[in-house]
Amino acid sequence: MAYSVLTENMCGIVAYTGNKPASPILIDGLRVLEYRGYDSAGIYVPGSGCYKAVGSVQDLVKALPGMLPGHAGIGHTRWATHGQPSTVNAHPHHDRAKAVWLVHNGIIENYTELRERLAREGHTFVSDTDTEVLAHLVGDAYERIHDLPAAVVEALALVDGTYGIAVMAEDMPDTIVTARFGSPIAIGIKEGEYIIASDAAPIVRHTRDVLYLKDGEYAVLSPEGYGVFSFKHEVLNRAPETVSYNIEDVQKGGHPHFMLKEILEIPTVLENTARGRIVMREGNAKLGGLTDAADILRETKCMIIVGCGSAYYAGMVGKLLIEDLTGIPVQVEVGSEFRNRPIVTKEGTTLVAVSQSGETADTLGSVREAKRRGIPTIGIVNVVGSTIARETDVGIYNHAGPEIGVASTKAFLSQLEVLALFALYLGRLRGLTQARGAEFAMEILRLPEKARTILSRREKIRRLAGEYLGYDDFLYIGRGYNLPTAYEGALKLKEVSYVHAEGYGAGEMKHGPIAMIDEVFPTVAIMPSDSTYAKMRSNVEEIRARNGPVIAVATEGNTAIQDLVDDVIYIPDTKECLTPILANIPLQLFAYYTGIMRGLNVDRPRNLAKSVTVE
Ligand code: F6R
Repeated sequence: MAYSVLTENMCGIVAYTGNKPASPILIDGLRVLEYRGYDSAGIYVPGSGCYKAVGSVQDLVKALPGMLPGHAGIGHTRWATHGQPSTVNAHPHHDRAKAVWLVHNGIIENYTELRERLAREGHTFVSDTDTEVLAHLVGDAYERIHDLPAAVVEALALVDGTYGIAVMAEDMPDTIVTARFGSPIAIGIKEGEYIIASDAAPIVRHTRDVLYLKDGEYAVLSPEGYGVFSFKHEVLNRAPETVSYNIEDVQKGGHPHFMLKEILEIPTVLENTARGRIVMREGNAKLGGLTDAADILRETKCMIIVGCGSAYYAGMVGKLLIEDLTGIPVQVEVGSEFRNRPIVTKEGTTLVAVSQSGETADTLGSVREAKRRGIPTIGIVNVVGSTIARETDVGIYNHAGPEIGVASTKAFLSQLEVLALFALYLGRLRGLTQARGAEFAMEILRLPEKARTILSRREKIRRLAGEYLGYDDFLYIGRGYNLPTAYEGALKLKEVSYVHAEGYGAGEMKHGPIAMIDEVFPTVAIMPSDSTYAKMRSNVEEIRARNGPVIAVATEGNTAIQDLVDDVIYIPDTKECLTPILANIPLQLFAYYTGIMRGLNVDRPRNLAKSVTVE
């Protein structure tokens, strides 16, 4: 399997300096950070060395010889967004002299250039990570100036990207330098003791006094005291704040549920999924993991997209995108069907498996079935190193970060975006013009801001959920690109609120479902101002004529719709083929608010598992 190079941005950092043995505090902190997702973990304690393990923090504990001597250290739990989890890629990383060690959360965007430059200067690297490059930069500066804070700042001046880091030098065993740009760093402050972490969760069991570094700040900490500085080395007078929340509150980012936290992360996820993957001057997508498959993809005659649940609906959107941008015929299959019936495939077929977890048994079974038939396989997977990621020939990672809520929200949106990037890449391989590609790519880059606009109006959706709380049945209708949105919107409502909801093609209404419509059967009509609008409007008129309440998801500026329906949720204008990426967001919020108003545990709906590893 080839995916692409390695960076990470959902990792967890923990560091400690003080009067207690550091290793149990680091391990405990890493356990608390495991909710951020993990594929490997490691710690470094000066004088005692560095220990790493693939898997969970428990696997790291097994790799330790026992409690390490040393009262300061750094630790890291990694959730890779690219590349395979392995001990060499796990943090902490060191410079070439093994004099400087660091842990990092974030993405160094120019690490390839920096790595090439360092390689020309004689550096060799043991891992594929961007972090190791940073460790070498700090190490070089430290060798020259022997001032760890100054060396860190000098190295950081060379990097583009985001980071929250904690750095130690072997010959300064009590001192930690931590710095932040774009990735959070929280410092817990106690008398003569400091615990540093990517969020306050590992800190609050030690102290409630927490100082959050701001972008462009660093801190130097040792049992003798601490100081906070700007990157220009100005001393900053920063006082800690007292936090009152518990570990779980912090893990949920202060939100009452993971589901809401993850919905609110959507704009950032849309940015991360597209980050570094659009080459505007070429009007193209750069998908490193597919490089080895370019020849196959240029010649592919048809495609099968396979997935389950929400991933299947993402695949339905993917089909339309690929057919529109490339002309390649695409068939979409539910995993449980594809693997269990004799599907006729022809020469030149490629299979695309879409799966957040990368472990769904039916999707995996489909990949295996395709391979058995000699069909090339591509994975669109969120969890790095998962079975589907390993078993597909090539693939694209979502970069959505760990999704903890059982109902897929942000990961589903990232699947749609990856499929859009994939369709663009395929299109450009097969005759889509640079101008059309660039226009499409430009619109992909505008999506995060548009998603933010929708989320900023969530109070209105909460009110709507309250107004519609008394209904026991809902119909979701759409056409074209938003037929899958109707299916997915209904699925989300069912899953987290246990309210009966059906997704239906609006054009199919008169072939049956309209018989159900009356004043207690509301319809959610997904009807942006696009090529399907006029027909959607007719369908809604038919529903209104039968007294069915209607909520429309419509494009901003369409004020006329207000006269036709009971309630309108507006989404910003975008290209027709990208509307599902926006239209799904209010539907996720509607399901979320309905679920919580019904007093349900939306993060763990009954009878459901996050990853369905059985048939
Ligand atoms: C719905 C949901 C499920 C998953 C499905 C596939 O909210 O989360 O329908 O989409 O179980 O899971 P993955 O993507 O992990 O293969």
